[in-house]
Order: sequence, then C-alpha cells, then structure tokens
Amino acid sequence: MTSTGIRVHDEDGVRSVVLDRPDKKNALTVAMYADLADAIASAPSDGIGALLFTAEGTTFSAGNDLHDFLNDPPRGEDTPVFRFLFGLAETDVPIVAAVRGNAVGIGTTMLLHCDVVYAAPSARFTLPFIALGLVPEAGSSVLLQRRIGRARAGAALFLGEPMAADAAYASGLITEIVADDALDAKAAAAARAIAAKPREAARETKRLLNYDREAIVAAMRRESAAFTARLASDEARAAMRAFFTRP
Ligand code: COA
Repeated sequence: MTSTGIRVHDEDGVRSVVLDRPDKKNALTVAMYADLADAIASAPSDGIGALLFTAEGTTFSAGNDLHDFLNDPPRGEDTPVFRFLFGLAETDVPIVAAVRGNAVGIGTTMLLHCDVVYAAPSARFTLPFIALGLVPEAGSSVLLQRRIGRARAGAALFLGEPMAADAAYASGLITEIVADDALDAKAAAAARAIAAKPREAARETKRLLNYDREAIVAAMRRESAAFTARLASDEARAAMRAFFTRP
C-alpha cells in the first residue's frame, strides 16, 4: 500500500492509476482524491495517451471514505474530490478501467467518465446515495440515465440494488465482462493500444464525444451544492455513523 492509497506509474504512454487501499476496500480519502486529481490533470503535459484505472484487492472501491464524510466533508469546488470530478469530466485523455468486486457510490459514478470499462464477473455496481441521506454526484444525475436508461437508473438510485456484471453489461454500463484472471491484461492492452494511436485524433475524438461537457460540469455543480448540503443533514450523518456501528 502507498502512503496515500494511490499508486501511479507511467509506461508506454499509459498512466496506470491504482486504488491501493485494499484493507479499507479502497474507500477514497481526501488524500487519494488529491493524487487522483493530480494524475489526471498532469497527464496531457506528461505525454500520456491513455489513463488506466485499476484497483488492488477484491473490491474496486467502497466509495468515498465515510470517516472523511463525517469528519472532513468537502466544502467547495476547490477541494480534492471536486478537483478529481471536474478533472474526470474535462480531460481529453481516454480512460480505461478494470473493475472487480464492489464498486460503490463514486466507485461506480467515476466509471461513467471512462471510455472503456472491463469488469470481472465478480463486479457489483451499487449507488446507495439515498440510503445514506445523499444525492447522486459526479454528473451521474445526467450520465447514468443517459447510459443505462431512466428506468434502470431509477431502480439503481431509488432502490439502491446492486447491479451485477451481467446486468451492467446488458444495460450498457460497461464495455465487456472479462474473466478475472484475464482482466488486468485485457485492460492494460486496451490502454496501450489507445496510447499507441495518433494522440491528437484520440483527444479530438474524446472532445467530440463529450460535446456537452459544459452541461455535465453544470450538473456536477448542481449535484455538489445538493450533496454538500445533504452531508450536513441529520439524515446523512445518522446513516453514515450507522455504518461504523454495524453489529
Ligand atoms: N469508508 C470508510 N471505511 C470503509 C468504507 C468506507 N466507504 N467501506 C469499507 N470501509 C472499511 C470498514 O469500516 C472496514 O474497516 P475495519 O476493518 O477497520 O473495520 C474495512 O473497510 C472492510 O470493510 P467491510 O465492510 O468489513 O468489508 P466487506 O467486504 O464486508 O464489505 C463493502 C465491503 C464495500 C460492501 C462495505 O464495506 C460497504 O458497504 N462499505 C460502505 C460503502 C458506502 O456506503 N460507500 C459510500 C458511498 S457514497
């Protein structure tokens, strides 16, 4: 494990970004968001042609660290979590992700900004925002329903039921299901293949695909105002405390 819980390594034009806090199921802390935001922001000037997001251990990410939400909640757009989210929405560098196990909250919504997402059969995507007294973030109030349809987005958000890998594939949330032992190699090969292609054409393609990124950033701003207010609510604080006093 690294000191912050994020490992970054550049090779062949690919920046590999590993969530490396497996003992806490890769729950994302403020320090981790800061490293993630920096890894995305500096990629173009560092000559990176593709970003590759993977995770150590059996869980992709348990979402935001709930201790941080209770004790050090984000208070504005100049905080690491929002720098990470705006960076994700605004980067022109293509992103590949490999997911195994649980992807909770932002562990799922960050994938809505990835261009190619491979998942092992063990992958489970869960959006427990409402149960936690919270609201969707990362542009997911717009992107999720666009990606998987309003009816499925409704079930994922209002019921908070985990979506298994096959359902995620059927709904278009992910690119492909890949056997666990082939997942990392497949994702790494895809990232290398993208990085080896004409760089400017790839970036221009991403800009074209994200033609409405201003609308997504505007959605993030709406969400961030609501999310920040919800974090301070009694509903949310009680729900988050309950996680740590589970029997
Ligand atoms: N924030 C802080 N710590 C977390 C965490 C989170 N989001 N998710 C897990 N952890 C910690 C647990 O407190 C536990 O710590 P401990 O060993 O010191 O007790 C450790 O990680 C292992 O978690 P555990 O719940 O025992 O693992 P599991 O395999 O049984 O379950 C999850 C995995 C992801 C299903 C479960 O941890 C979970 O639901 N986490 C919370 C998810 C969440 O609500 N995220 C916020 C979304 S907005």
